[in-house]
Amino acid sequence: MSDAPDFSLKGKLALITGSTQGLGLAIARAYGASGARVIINGRHAGRVGAAVAGMADNGHDAHPFVCDIGDLAGQAPAFQELCERTGVPDIVVHNVGIRIRKSLEDATLADMLELINVDLIAALHLSKLAAAAMVEHRLQGRFITLTSIAGELARPGDAIYPVAKQGLAGMVRALAVEYGNQGITSNGIAPGTFATETNASLANDPIKGPIVLGRNPMARWAHPSEIAGAAVFLASPSASYVNGHILVVDGGFSITF
Ligand SMILES: NC(=O)c1ccc[n+]([C@@H]2O[C@H](COP(=O)([O-])OP(=O)(O)OC[C@H]3O[C@@H](n4cnc5c(N)ncnc54)[C@H](OP(=O)(O)O)[C@@H]3O)[C@@H](O)[C@H]2O)c1
Repeated sequence: MSDAPDFSLKGKLALITGSTQGLGLAIARAYGASGARVIINGRHAGRVGAAVAGMADNGHDAHPFVCDIGDLAGQAPAFQELCERTGVPDIVVHNVGIRIRKSLEDATLADMLELINVDLIAALHLSKLAAAAMVEHRLQGRFITLTSIAGELARPGDAIYPVAKQGLAGMVRALAVEYGNQGITSNGIAPGTFATETNASLANDPIKGPIVLGRNPMARWAHPSEIAGAAVFLASPSASYVNGHILVVDGGFSITF
């Protein structure tokens, strides 16, 4: 065995939910570059196809998975079909996340149910399906869940998202303790402020943009590719004994006050 750490994902199959853009696509690219076969997921065939084609253009082995992760009734047959077509994923990255920025006063029950369903319940249910398949196929599986520093840190006008993200942090640990003895690990990544498409309006807002930057010791937004190191590490052989951990990638935002 080599003394050098091993960050290769060669021979692994990785499903990244919500990977047509943003952090999901950045993780998919990094996994492809690290040798993994990658499954690109999103709700629209055209956007998934475009991301798969972009991966192929860069020499990566990518496969489409058109599926609304929030459609709980459709999840099991869709995942089954995926496994028959591509094999069972060794690595599952729960990346899908929507945000409905509303105070509790303004939020409707429908808002609450939608966000908690898509961000939390869908990931919990997909974990159940994927873990069963990993165990059946004796895979040394890896779950990596995108939480958020906004799970720990609350701000006015954003009452539902932190609830879902703290729920995901609990899920990271629940999977870690339930499946660790089968060689399956579960960890999380808590991103801070990344300049993804979804954050463009906030980053460019003349009032809110500078407030966000002012709180960050590094005084800049992260590029989406800056999530890659954490995501590859947690999926790699070198993270074999890391389990139940949530790695904060926020430039130090959450340690300031
Ligand atoms: N960006 C940040 O600064 C930041 C900070 C903290 C945490 N996070 C977390 O990191 C994750 C990614 O953030 P992001 O900013 O990259 O997000 P994003 O730019 O909004 O991208 C979301 C991705 O999810 C897909 N998606 C949305 N709903 C879906 C569904 N129901 N089923 C399948 N795919 C779905 C979208 O694809 P289609 O539209 O093509 O379906 C898209 O590829 C999220 O969980 C977010 O909460 C991000």
